[in-house]
Amino acid sequence: MGRGLEGRVAAVTGGARGIGEAIAQKFAADGASVFSLDRIAPQAEREGVFDIETDITSPEAVANAFKTIDARAGRVDILVNNAGIQRVGLVGKISFDDWSSVVATHLHGFFLCASQAVPRMAANGHGAIVSIASTAAFVGLPGRGAYCAAKAGILGLTRALALEVASVGIRVNAVAPGFTRTKLIDQALADGSLQEDWMTARVPMSRLAKPDEIANAVRYLAGDDASYITGQTLIVDGGWTVQGIPHAPAWLKADG
Ligand code: NAI
Repeated sequence: MGRGLEGRVAAVTGGARGIGEAIAQKFAADGASVFSLDRIAPQAEREGVFDIETDITSPEAVANAFKTIDARAGRVDILVNNAGIQRVGLVGKISFDDWSSVVATHLHGFFLCASQAVPRMAANGHGAIVSIASTAAFVGLPGRGAYCAAKAGILGLTRALALEVASVGIRVNAVAPGFTRTKLIDQALADGSLQEDWMTARVPMSRLAKPDEIANAVRYLAGDDASYITGQTLIVDGGWTVQGIPHAPAWLKADG
């Protein structure tokens, strides 16, 4: 059974792998026509997903991608801003190029795609925009200042845009995942900037998220079940951000 996504046209950035791929496949399984805007090709073709090679930091590339969607589908009902990158480095050491590429991917990408999607959605009187933030929007992560700043910026733009477009039937929300097993995390484990044992030790549910679990939250906010929700952020982190005492004694836990 679909959840309000049957027949909808969805643009998903970074849909070639990881969380974006899970979102694209879930939407397609619900009967949506999905366009994945990614700078890499997926490992395999996906039924119901049309890949458009796009660098979402380029205004021209994003404009062309939406022209392709116009030609193939004639409208856009859902935009998911998912594409993201990590660059690790301390302020004072990280290069301006690395800083800029993180900010550009998350913030320019959101702005450029929303700039194309909003007029199209407004013309049809409805739309849903969901952006992937992070728990890094709420807490500090040393060496990831650009990422924390960009993810917090996504929440700022989510709230401002939600107010701008509420009157024309467009909802704008965000999902903030905790650590999720994807290539982004695999790279951080490989370069030593993250370690799996302390990541899971800090999560009350004692495991990383699966991409599909993040996609479920995105589907909810993109669909009609969330018809009165706008300007909000849904945190999907296994309890990570609400934990005040990481190592509470067993007798203070339900299984103690
Ligand atoms: P990933 O690295 O597996 O996939 C990211 C996708 O975005 C790739 O297909 C990549 O080619 C695409 N992409 C990157 N820059 C692009 C650009 N300029 N234009 C077009 N496509 C571009 O990463 P993952 O883990 O799936 O991350 C997806 C989103 O979730 C990102 O925004 C990330 O910051 C966020 N996130 C991930 C978490 C995790 O633990 N994996 C936790 C919290 C948030």
